[in-house]
Amino acid sequence: MGSEEKLAAQQPSSQKLGALGSRPRKILFDGVTPLELMPNLTKHCGGAELFVKRDDCTGLAFGGNKVRQIEFYLGEALAQRADTILITGAVQSNFVRTAAAAARQLGMECHIQQEERVAKTDNVYRESGNVLVVKLLGATLSSYPCGEDEAGADRQVQKLADEMRAAGRNPYIIPLGPGHAPLGALGYVVAAQELLGQINAAGLQVDNVFVGSGSGATHGGLLFGLKALGSKIGVVGICVRREAKLQHERIASTCRQIATLLGKENLVTDADIKLDDEFLAPGYGIPGKTVLDAIMVAARTEGLILDPVYTGKVMAGAIQHAKRATPETTNIFLHTGGTPAIFAYQDMLATAAVEFAG
Ligand SMILES: Cc1ncc(COP(=O)(O)O)c(C=O)c1O
Repeated sequence: MGSEEKLAAQQPSSQKLGALGSRPRKILFDGVTPLELMPNLTKHCGGAELFVKRDDCTGLAFGGNKVRQIEFYLGEALAQRADTILITGAVQSNFVRTAAAAARQLGMECHIQQEERVAKTDNVYRESGNVLVVKLLGATLSSYPCGEDEAGADRQVQKLADEMRAAGRNPYIIPLGPGHAPLGALGYVVAAQELLGQINAAGLQVDNVFVGSGSGATHGGLLFGLKALGSKIGVVGICVRREAKLQHERIASTCRQIATLLGKENLVTDADIKLDDEFLAPGYGIPGKTVLDAIMVAARTEGLILDPVYTGKVMAGAIQHAKRATPETTNIFLHTGGTPAIFAYQDMLATAAVEFAG
């Protein structure tokens, strides 16, 4: 980072991030997650420095990126005096687990609509991992049969909300599909500011941050925030949900909507939206061999636990990019959590652990 960029990043955020400070927000993680060098993984990749930003350490019920995101939804829910959170997610969704925990902390109920997004029907997948956690949290569950119909899932949840209102409740919906204000992305605008502060304090010159790109809230928020703060650090989205061509418009649209929410100019151009979908196959929620290997490499070199749906895919991308980069390159892997899911994939991971050749 050059000195001009450093100065720009240090200007008061109120100026550069518009209305961010005045958006309704319920702080659930009041801290800074660690930014740590991974020396063994750096060596494994041939010398390009690889850091990890530990957003798996955001506290609430196993932490992860969704804690930062949900703060802005729950801020609004509290302002509306909601008594129930309604949310849709995949069976092993981390977002719904976070929503259920946050709802409990704030004295609310949580209703989760599980969509069938992954062709995995074994009992462990359906009962362990995040499902076990939401059951411990006492969330109520219903099912939506189609995992590729976000608008339909949102309509169904709206119906549930109408029924709850008719019964005298006051539900707050966290929507699934695009076309709604991406409040969760604001959590990653906040994170961009936090990360730049750490990078500046450590005197690092960072080239890229590798992030999972699913709903696009993490990717879009971080990219918007870094650009708004004057940083030239690249954000590489590793596709975990859909191919790069489709994901591109989602990120572009998220950034446009963040600009509207904050009353700021959108500085993100098409060229800033970097996506890699090489590690998506065979599809959402199913890891390929390279991804399983990346999970093993992270565990065996750094003691870092990753999940097979999101962070394993991102690590596979980060490792491949680091191996191809010159040794002067410095990259950051954003660990977005998701670790409870390892227990829902225990057979697959146990086999991978045995078969891993190092
Ligand atoms: C652990 C984890 N990492 C990354 C992502 C992707 O983040 P986003 O939905 O903000 O694109 C998710 C989304 O559910 C997640 O649970």
